[in-house]
Amino acid sequence: MAIGWSGTCWFIPGPTWLTPTVLEGLAQPTMTHRSPEFKVVMAELHGRLRHSFALSPTTTEIGQQAQEGEDGYSVVVVSGSGTAAMEMVIANRFGPDDRVLVPTNGKFGERVAQMCENFTCVTHLKGEWGRAFDLGEIDSILSNGTFDGLAICHNETSTGITQDAPELARIAEKHGVSFILDGITSVGGLPVYPAEWKAEAVVVGGQKCTAGPSGISAVAISESYIQKMIKNREKENSSPVYYLDLIQALKKAADDQTPWTPSINLCTGWVAALREQDEEGIEKRWKRCESLAKGVRNMFTSLGFELFADENQRSNTVTAIFYPEPDWGEEWRRWMAVEKDTHVIGGQDHVKGRIFRVGTMGVTSREEMIEGCRRMIEGFRHFGMDLPPHDYLDVESYFR
Ligand SMILES: Cc1ncc(COP(=O)(O)O)c(C=O)c1O
Repeated sequence: MAIGWSGTCWFIPGPTWLTPTVLEGLAQPTMTHRSPEFKVVMAELHGRLRHSFALSPTTTEIGQQAQEGEDGYSVVVVSGSGTAAMEMVIANRFGPDDRVLVPTNGKFGERVAQMCENFTCVTHLKGEWGRAFDLGEIDSILSNGTFDGLAICHNETSTGITQDAPELARIAEKHGVSFILDGITSVGGLPVYPAEWKAEAVVVGGQKCTAGPSGISAVAISESYIQKMIKNREKENSSPVYYLDLIQALKKAADDQTPWTPSINLCTGWVAALREQDEEGIEKRWKRCESLAKGVRNMFTSLGFELFADENQRSNTVTAIFYPEPDWGEEWRRWMAVEKDTHVIGGQDHVKGRIFRVGTMGVTSREEMIEGCRRMIEGFRHFGMDLPPHDYLDVESYFR
């Protein structure tokens, strides 16, 4: 049967692969960051990022406050990877006297907790990797009325679990605490609704679901976040910020600029990626990710593989799968890269060598995924697994 894909199969959950159009977008001639040409880039970046965040649309026109919409949310571009944006959100908003609850079930949530420890008073509710949060426990902890924030990693890339954000949002609202999301591998790939969830801040990284370059990120912040940030920054004991001063960044964003020399070519590259996102349409992109992830989940489970994350909260942008044999798992992964030009990522920390993770984000197509799955099966056969032969295994049927 004809296969629609013959090249590299790239299923790393970020950085995702960059299309030729994005590479062209990156390769723009030098411009200064105070020029009208650059303001045009920033206005378009702001306007299109609002679509990634599912915020009220604005404009992509220069001088029209593209960063701020009717819903009261503003987007701000950050020169730095997602971690920088997350640090910006936490450091500007919370002081050492604020109490923030951080429930976690994987590596990136744990990083949120670690980061918060630098700036605020944290209660880290450290859960088992891949298990859903105990919402009752979160509700009960917040009910003592002493907390200011609930910060989560929305889509836990290390374990392939998506938190129940609507329910967490409801709990945060009930207790009047700020709801902050690391949406680094959810925004642009999964339904994320900052306004509906009354989230104070959501972070996205360029290199993940928006299929843009790495080293650039953005935040979406609400009016309430802005007011509370200003109050916090006026306090004598607020955390020192300079490069990541969000008040300055917000002011400059209103003029289609950034406070410091930004990663100019990453901005032009990201704009190109977001044009592709908008051509596809954000909801269609969410659907594509969902259908690819479902296919991966169904195919591997039907072949007898076990998935890592709790069943009802499996992510549509990354799937974590147990190796049938932990002993040769990582060797399989290297072999896949070298011999089959097919790239997946391994597990982190204590699950290193026990799981592999398949990304279904960015611009990965059905054809690429079908071909990649065929190659992975071939790889597992090569390593001695007893799997149905090609003729009997209709990989395509999982992706219809
Ligand atoms: C959910 C999540 N949060 C944070 C990060 C860190 O982002 P960055 O490496 O862009 O700083 C990652 C990276 O994979 C991630 O997946």
